[in-house]
This record gives sequence, structure tokens and C-alpha cells, in this order.
Amino acid sequence: MCGIVGYIGHRDAWDIVIKGLKRLEYRGYDSAGIALMNGGLKIHKKAGKVSDLEAHTLHEDRSGTTGMGHTRWATHGAPSDRNSHPHRSGDGKLSIIHNGIIENYSVIKEALQAKGHVFSSDTDTEVLIHLIEDIHSDTTDLLEAVRLALNEVIGAYAIVIMSQDSPDQLIAARKGSPMVIGVGEGEYFIASDATPIVEYTKNVIYLKDSQIALVKRDELVVKTIDNIIQTPYIQELSLQLEMLEKGGFEHFMLKEIYEQPRSVRDCMRGRIYPNEGKVQLGGIKDYADKLKNVERIVVIACGTSWHAGLVGEYLIEEYARIPVEVEYASEFRYRNPIISEKDIVIAISQSGETADTMAAIELAKERGATIFGICNVVGSSIPRITDAGVYTHAGPEIGVASTKAFTAQVTVLTLMALYMAQQRGTIKQSDLVSMLTELDEIPSLIEQALKSDEKIAEIAEKFKDSSNCLFLGRGSGFPVALEGALKLKEISYIHAEGYPAAEMKHGPIALIDEDMPVVFIATKNSSYEKVISNIQEVKARKGKVIAIVTEGDKTVKEMVDYTIEIPACNEAYLPLLATIPLQLLSYHIAVLRGCNVDQPRNLAKSVTVE
Ligand code: AGP
Repeated sequence: MCGIVGYIGHRDAWDIVIKGLKRLEYRGYDSAGIALMNGGLKIHKKAGKVSDLEAHTLHEDRSGTTGMGHTRWATHGAPSDRNSHPHRSGDGKLSIIHNGIIENYSVIKEALQAKGHVFSSDTDTEVLIHLIEDIHSDTTDLLEAVRLALNEVIGAYAIVIMSQDSPDQLIAARKGSPMVIGVGEGEYFIASDATPIVEYTKNVIYLKDSQIALVKRDELVVKTIDNIIQTPYIQELSLQLEMLEKGGFEHFMLKEIYEQPRSVRDCMRGRIYPNEGKVQLGGIKDYADKLKNVERIVVIACGTSWHAGLVGEYLIEEYARIPVEVEYASEFRYRNPIISEKDIVIAISQSGETADTMAAIELAKERGATIFGICNVVGSSIPRITDAGVYTHAGPEIGVASTKAFTAQVTVLTLMALYMAQQRGTIKQSDLVSMLTELDEIPSLIEQALKSDEKIAEIAEKFKDSSNCLFLGRGSGFPVALEGALKLKEISYIHAEGYPAAEMKHGPIALIDEDMPVVFIATKNSSYEKVISNIQEVKARKGKVIAIVTEGDKTVKEMVDYTIEIPACNEAYLPLLATIPLQLLSYHIAVLRGCNVDQPRNLAKSVTVE
């Protein structure tokens, strides 16, 4: 987690860095800081949001054309002014910003303390800049000192370093944490992702793992930390600035919920041919033969992406008839999973940077499995370490609570399931034609589902003061229930649980009383009658029921307290529609409770620590 920005050029660095940090705040927002070269190395830092730092420094001299900044998600050391980045070396002449974790920091710290180094924060990052200082005292070239220091550290890092004695340069390096360098005219931009850069240049270099860069106004030198000079590859960004703005919505999350008709359509564009009954997935086409014969698929992911994986399990097993196991990436390597070269592993991640998912991929790779990625952020780390993959093309998701990325992941998994079914001959051609025709209609049906927004806001008013909530569904309604519960938990801080509806009687039913809201996925599909029985069990115990129902359903309406209608659809596509009202319900409840919807407490958008 943590966001980093650096700038060297002819413009005011402060403006570029502060704006960039605001764009990266989704990566962490418990403290922020900026270092500027301004007649010496000046550092401004503060616990709190980037806007707090801005307010705090309003009357300071913030000029200078070289600078770097950091927005933090605390790992080592509580959020506080002194633990905020940038950190300084002991002599105060070097400064560092860092995203990642130096795992062997305590051993290095002890060795440095023995040599007389005194530390003023609890962070691993400060240890790294002291180590660089220590090596620099014997090695005059700072780049070389940084390179040697990085050879001593274990862990993950994206770092930028400024030096008072070399005011016209920045040194940047990465391993395991992302870093992009924007190439301008007589200026360079450095950031954790391209969002702070796109406003100024479309030409970027994605620094590779274990690369280190010396960045001057008119010169860029890239080498590996093994000291081999590299020729960086400049590529053009397709990201548009408007994608990063709120576009008139009060919150990014609401904007992203409303973008789903578009994002799901973008995700399918050029990949489905309903009239011909054909699915085309360029990213995995070289593996068509492997898919024909594969005996097992393992899905690894975390959080919302894991929920999408559960939906994928239903779809792949139903249509392609391949057994699927869905694993929490965060648990995968803490046992000894049985995995081999025969398996296909699908790693799902919006950010493409989640450390747990990356670690699980590495383990699966070691055991010879073929790895597919389903990621949203183009050029992120996971697509680089997987064998093949399919991008979700949902566009930048800025709200920390994932919404449009989930429906895009489910869309990709639907396409994959149908593609595999097509390759393996487990679906009739006429069925594929009708499935794809119906899938093509889903964006319009999502638009219809969004029309319940006002009604959902009224329902939210009734439940805003609840302390607990249950979400229940069967079949692919179960992952939808899990996702509904996660959304409510993370943005409104109401305790919520998702369960398979039939499991309720095995325990959670004990929780039901007149204060317990229960949200049911009760649409007309194969488990409709059974879900109705579960609703009656809750009503018999005076629970308050909100049911997501198929348009026109009267039976459930008579039984429950509130209904929210979604259009009728093929059961396979239920998660794409039923999730929409749950996103809106959480959103409205969180707003009514005065919560910070886009930046919920303790969370960060991309979780780059294990
Ligand atoms: C979703 O609302 C969460 N913020 C979180 O569970 C997220 O899905 C998880 O951290 C995985 O992230 P990824 O998709 O970027 O790998």
C-alpha cells in the first residue's frame, strides 16, 4: 500500500506532487508528506489526509522544481507525524519515500545502532535510508550506494531518494511494489501508478522488478540492482484524465456503481459474437488445447475478487464441466496445496498488486501450474507474472470498496466459462447463441436495476442505525450475499455476514430477532421455492426482511418488509444484476451514517502487504 509521487523538471514540484498524492490516496491515507529541494532539503509531513498536509503548510514556502511525496498506510509504526514519510538519513542530507516492507529491517537496524545510528521513527523505511547513508560514507557515488543497500534488503519496495548534495536528481527503484516513470520534455514524473502522471504526459516507463533509475531533468539511466544497464521501453498510456474525476457524482463509489452498464459492455466488447455463437478471448487463445484437456482449475483471490471467483466456480462447472476450487490467496501458501503442471490457476485481482495473490501465484508457478490473470489495472504486477490473462477493462476504480471491478470480473469469468465450454464441446451451439444474446443484454438490464436507487435510499433510511445484518442467498446468490455483506461492513462499519440461505438453520438463525435485518437474494430461479421457505423461517422469528426479487414478483412481496426489484434474467447472470442493489444499499446506509464512503477507515485499495 502507500502511494508515492516524484517530480523533477521546470514546474513547481509541490503542485504536481500534492495533486498526485490526492489521486493515490486510495492506496493509503493515514498520513502524508512531501520533500522539496528548496535551498536545501525541506520536508513537510503530517498524520492525516493529504488535505491536512496541504492546510498545515499553507503559509510555508513550497517552491522548488524537484520534489517527492508519500501517502501512507501504516505497517511499521502507528500513523503519526514522526512515522510519516519522507524519512531522513542521520545527517539529514538524504531523504526517502517508500511503498512496501523491508522484512529484515530489525537486523539491519541493530547493526546500524551498534555503529551509532540513532532513529527517530518506528518505521522500516528509516532503517533503509540510514543503511544507504552508511554505505554512502564509503562509496562516493550515491546511485551505487543505493544499489548496494538494496542488495542487502529483503522485502518489497518502491522508493524515491533525494539528496541535498545532488539537488538535480532523483533516484528511484522498485521490487515487488509498482512504479511508473512519466517521460516529459525536460522533466520526469514518478508514481505508484499512472494516475498522477496522465495529466502531463502519455509516455511512460513501467520500471521492472529489481531495477534502479537515476532521474535528472534531461537524462534517465536505468540499471538492474545487479548493475546491468537497461534500455527502458517507453509506452503510451490509454488512460484518460476524465476517468479519474468524479464526473458530478458525490462519491467515486457512486460514480463507479453507475458506470457498470458501460464497464460491463467494455469488458465484453470484441469478445462476444452472439449471432455466430462465438466467444473470443485473445489473451488465453494460445491455451485453447490446454483448456480442452485440463482436469482442474484453481482460483486464487482475496476479498471481493474472491467472491467473483466463487461465481466463476458456478459458471465454469456448469458450462465447461471442469472441477473448480476457489481459494483465499492469503491462505493458499500456508498449507501445502496439491498443485501441479496439469492445473490451471486463475488469479483474480482488481489492482493486480495484491501481495497475498502475488505470493500464491509464485507458489503455483513453482509447482508448474499454468497461471491466468484476471486484472483491471493494465500494466500492473500480476499481468506481468502470469502466463496469460484477460483484462477486465472496467477503467480506474478509485472508491476503496470494489463495485464495477466485481461485475467486470464476473463478466470475464462468464466469458471464460463459455469460451471453455465452446472449446470442450460441453455446450450446444444453439445454447451458446442464446446465452450470448442474453449476455449482450445485461448492460441494459443493469441500467434498469439502477433505477431502484431512490427506493433503495428510502430503505437505507430505515436500517441506517442497525448494528448487524445478515445476507442470504443460494446457488450463485450465495457469493452475491457475501459481497453484499462485505460492502456493508467496509463502508458503513455495520457488522454483516453473508451465508448460504440453507445454512441459516445450522446456526445463524439464533441471531434472528426483531432488530435483525436480513437481506435475501430471492429472485425467480432454481432455488426460489427453497429461499421462500428460508424467508418464512426468518419472518416467523420477527426478523426484518429486505428481498431482492425478480420484477413483478408478488409472492415474496406479501411476505417481507421491503422488496427491491431487478429485471428477469438467465440464472447464470444473476450476480451481475443482484449485486447492483446491494452496492447501492451499502452506499446509502454509509452516507446516512456519515461515513467516508470512498476512503473507509483502516482500508487501502491495493493491499501490497501480506
Ligand atoms: C473490496 O471492496 C475490498 N476493498 C477488498 O476486499 C479487495 O477486493 C481485496 O483487497 C482484493 O483486491 P484486489 O482485487 O485488488 O486484489
